[in-house]
Amino acid sequence: FEIYFKGLSGVLPELPMTYAELEARAQAALPPGIWSYVAGGAGDEFTQRTNVTAFEKLGIVPRMLRDTKVRDLSIELFGMKLPSPLFMAPVGVIGLCAQDGHGDLATAEAAARTGVPMMASTLTVDPLEDVAARFGDTPGIFQLYTPKDRDLAQSLVSRAEAAGYKAIAVTLDTWVPGWRPRDLSTSNFPQLRGHCLANYFSDPVFRGMLAKTPEEDPQTAVLTFTAQFGSLLTWDDLPWLRSLTDLPLVLKGICHPDDARRAKDAGVDGIYCSNHGGRQANGGIPAIEHLPGVVAAADGLPVLFDSGIRSGSDVVKALALGATAVGIGRPYAYGLALGGADGIVHVLRTLLAEADLLMAVDGYRTIADLGPAAIRRMN
Ligand code: FNR
Repeated sequence: FEIYFKGLSGVLPELPMTYAELEARAQAALPPGIWSYVAGGAGDEFTQRTNVTAFEKLGIVPRMLRDTKVRDLSIELFGMKLPSPLFMAPVGVIGLCAQDGHGDLATAEAAARTGVPMMASTLTVDPLEDVAARFGDTPGIFQLYTPKDRDLAQSLVSRAEAAGYKAIAVTLDTWVPGWRPRDLSTSNFPQLRGHCLANYFSDPVFRGMLAKTPEEDPQTAVLTFTAQFGSLLTWDDLPWLRSLTDLPLVLKGICHPDDARRAKDAGVDGIYCSNHGGRQANGGIPAIEHLPGVVAAADGLPVLFDSGIRSGSDVVKALALGATAVGIGRPYAYGLALGGADGIVHVLRTLLAEADLLMAVDGYRTIADLGPAAIRRMN
C-alpha cells in the first residue's frame, strides 16, 4: 500500500516498477562483460525465454466475497517461520554487480532488512563467514558446488554450519559449464572466475593443497580451483552427501518426478525444482512445467522453485502449483546493480506487494488457500 499510495500522490519511486525497466536500467548500469554474464543463458536462450513466457499461459482464477482483509504470506521451511515465501537464489559472482564489488554483503544486508533468505553461492566474492555475519535474524542457506576432493567439500559445509547457515543446497546441474555464447563472445568468464574464489582461498583444506599460499601465487591457486570444480555426482554419492551435514539438505536442479522420489528416498529434506534460469542447458521445458510433477512426487517434502519469476503474479502462480518457497535470481541481481542493498530491497518489496494485492483482490487470504484449482491453463 505504501508504495502504491505514494505513487498515486505523485511520489514516484526512483527505482523501476516494471521488470522491463529494471532490466534495461541494469544493462545501462553494468559493464558489458558483467551484464552479459548475468543476463545470458545457454544456447540461443530458448529455455531462458520460455521459463518466463510459460507463466503467460497460466491464469489465476479469482474468487469473490471471501475475507481477505488481512493476508498472511508467511511460510514454514525446515521448521523456520519466514515472513514471506520468497528467497534469493544463489548467484555466483554477484558481488561484482555492486559498485564496490561486495554485492554478496549487500545481498545479505537486504536479507536482514526484509526477512527474505539469501542462498549464498559457493562462488561469492566475500567469504561465506563474512556474508553470514550480515544476515541479522534472517536465516541463510549455503549452496554447495561440490569440489572433487571430499575433505574440501566437508570443510566448506562444516564452515557453513559453524557460520550459522540453516540449510545446505547442493547444485547438481553445473559440474560442466553451460554452453553460453554470450560468455564466450565477451570472453569474460576467465576474468570473472578470479573474483569468486574467496571461499576456496580462505579454506584450510584448499590451502593445504598448495605449495604457496593463494596470496603468494594466485595463478596456481586458480588452476587448483579449476581442477577441483565440477565434480560429477551420481545417485551412488547421495549417502556421502547426506553424511556431510545434519542440517536440512536440499538438491537443486531436480525436474523429474522420479528424481524427486529417489532424492526423498535417499533422505534429503527438500527438493529444489529449477533449470538454473536456463543458463546450463538449452532446449528444455520451462521450469514451471516441471513443478506440479515434482511436487506430487516429493510427497510432502518442501519444494523450492526458481527460474523465470519476474512478477508478483508469477510468485502466486508458483505457490498455487505447489512450491513451498519461490526464488529469484536475475531480478535481485539487477536491483543490486541499480541501488545496492536498497535496490534489492526495492525489488523484493515490489514483488511481494504485487503478490499481496493480487491475493487480496482474487480472494486468497493465505498460501494454503491457493492450490491447483486457483490456476487455469490457457492456450
Ligand atoms: C546463477 N545461478 C546459480 N545457481 C547456483 O546454484 N549457484 C550459482 O553460483 C549460480 N550462479 C548464478 C549466476 C548468475 C549470474 C545467475 C543469473 C544465476 C542460478 C540461480 O540460482 C537461479 O537458479 C536462477 O537465476 C533462477 O532463474 P532467474 O530467476 O534468473 O530466471
